Amino acid sequence: MNATEAVKTKLDVRGFSSTAVPSDVKRAVMEAARLSPSGSNTQEWRFILVEKHDSLNRLADDSSSGKWVGKAGFAVIVCTNPAKGYHLIDAGRAVQNMQIAAWDQGVASGVFTGIKAAEFRRDFGIPSDLDPTIVVAFGYPVKKLIGRKSRKPLSEVAFLERFGNPIGYDR
Ligand SMILES: Cc1cc2nc3c(=O)[nH]c(=O)nc-3n(C[C@H](O)[C@H](O)[C@H](O)COP(=O)(O)O)c2cc1C
Repeated sequence: MNATEAVKTKLDVRGFSSTAVPSDVKRAVMEAARLSPSGSNTQEWRFILVEKHDSLNRLADDSSSGKWVGKAGFAVIVCTNPAKGYHLIDAGRAVQNMQIAAWDQGVASGVFTGIKAAEFRRDFGIPSDLDPTIVVAFGYPVKKLIGRKSRKPLSEVAFLERFGNPIGYDR
């Protein structure tokens, strides 16, 4: 799958089958995180791979918007340093890299940000200077992914040269 095709077809998935994800895919996902760009290349993020069934259920318990993570094959907690002004951008870039690397191997993923921080710190040993910012869950999709993404047209979200100027592309 080339990069453009991956971007076009990747959907956020919340239903995963019980088929185990091979460790080489997990390694590729963690490498994609490590290789991500960060502001001034500070690489302040830290990533926690969660793969035990009990731990995935704990992630679900500790979340307000990711209860579905309990059925994932594995998940990655992305921890960032809120003292860095660009930490959320850094997190987003790492997340997208991981999701695309997984999708390249047929493994789907979804994210959640409804995180009970105190519970995450307690259950996953996250130090006080880092925030558990976002979790990415991975696994084989429970149903075949069909249909197109639901997105606004380019003419509504993108402009030429100046805010509001039509960009002139139909799609
Ligand atoms: C910053 C951010 C936060 C999100 N938080 C959640 C979340 O807490 N729970 C959830 O189920 N999905 C969450 N999502 C997933 C979005 O709902 C999803 O990416 C969006 O609906 C587009 O999905 P699609 O690419 O499958 O069309 C989040 C996505 C982003 C980018």
